[in-house]
Amino acid sequence: MNFPIDRFQTLRTPFYFYDTALLKQTLDVVSAQLARHESYRMHYAVKANANPVLLRIISAHGFGADCVSGGEVQTAIAHGFAPETVVFAGVGKSDWEINVALEAGIGCFNVESAAELRAINDLAKAKGMQAPVALRVNPDIGAHTHTNITTGLAENKFGINLEQIEDVLRETLRLPGVTFKGLHFHIGSQITDMLDFQALCNRINALSGELSRHGLPVGDINVGGGLGVDYEHPDKAPMADFEAYFDVFRRHLDTQPGQTVHFELGRSIVAPCGSLITRLLYVKEGTAKRFAIVDGSMTELIRPALYHAFHLPQNLSADGSRPTATYDVVGPVCESSDVFAKAFDLPECRRGDFIAFRTAGAYGESMASGYNARPLPKSYFSSDFF
Ligand code: LLP
Repeated sequence: MNFPIDRFQTLRTPFYFYDTALLKQTLDVVSAQLARHESYRMHYAVKANANPVLLRIISAHGFGADCVSGGEVQTAIAHGFAPETVVFAGVGKSDWEINVALEAGIGCFNVESAAELRAINDLAKAKGMQAPVALRVNPDIGAHTHTNITTGLAENKFGINLEQIEDVLRETLRLPGVTFKGLHFHIGSQITDMLDFQALCNRINALSGELSRHGLPVGDINVGGGLGVDYEHPDKAPMADFEAYFDVFRRHLDTQPGQTVHFELGRSIVAPCGSLITRLLYVKEGTAKRFAIVDGSMTELIRPALYHAFHLPQNLSADGSRPTATYDVVGPVCESSDVFAKAFDLPECRRGDFIAFRTAGAYGESMASGYNARPLPKSYFSSDFF
């Protein structure tokens, strides 16, 4: 990836830098895969990154949006996503959020409990409407990923448990304020083992078969998101393996004529195109280690502190002639967990160097906070510079 560091000189760090050309290439690759199957639809998971410029690029590409709050529904629609392509999940939708989505005319509520189903029914009826709903199934499948980001296990709070799904579906069909659209699944995030998605397909096939045998409709299938990216090698593998991912569904998911398959990818679409750009403030000699203290922190990129996630640090100012040294790369926030990388080898760091943290386009800017009264990060785009 090219970083226009001459142009960065006058900008206040830290900030996010997005390679919009890479984002567009990624969208093209995903679209080419989708085009191989008429019944496949993509809803970009807005939670991964709700930056207005990125949302505009993604909505202009014709994707729908996957939202998890009333705010995301409003933001998605304000940035070009057609309301009927918006799906809305979340275990705790409040009344105002349900009303916002009803009034906007979204495509589908992904309902996570019988109690929520009844609330949506009541609110829709009060407006003389019928809310389109899919039932989010907790498929009880453990994806091989970080425990904080698995969502498909029975012990997780998400979705309706398999043993309850039939009763909730029967109730859905009876309620006058809702229209049954299909079943929704999501097993977790940063999944790189395609066998996990294969297990999901098998579970969906088994459940569909069972419901059909009991005379119940299945409707459309939403398989959620979750495809992982290579955080270790951002330049060698700047794109997730979309071909392998869609192949799993093509080969293993049984679909009926007329049945649509919805996808909700977030991370794999935006992670590679984003970097957090920081500047080196100080090199501090500790007793047994050396700290590279940068001006970016867990308030711009919380993933290392929250999940021990790795975002490759890169010294953009080093020209290749500098010797390597080993650093703990840390931010200035008053928390011991404000650490980007421990015992990491970088070309010798000097005050003022630009240090990038790569593959930060997903769950970086969208999870930024104002802790320590730090300002929210700004963002810049390759299209502004090249
Ligand atoms: N659909 C549903 C219902 C979801 O819960 C999620 C993510 C997605 C789609 C998109 O998943 P993706 O394709 O991005 O993996 N903050 C964490 C990730 C949380 C993911 C939450 N759900 C992180 O920084 O790793």
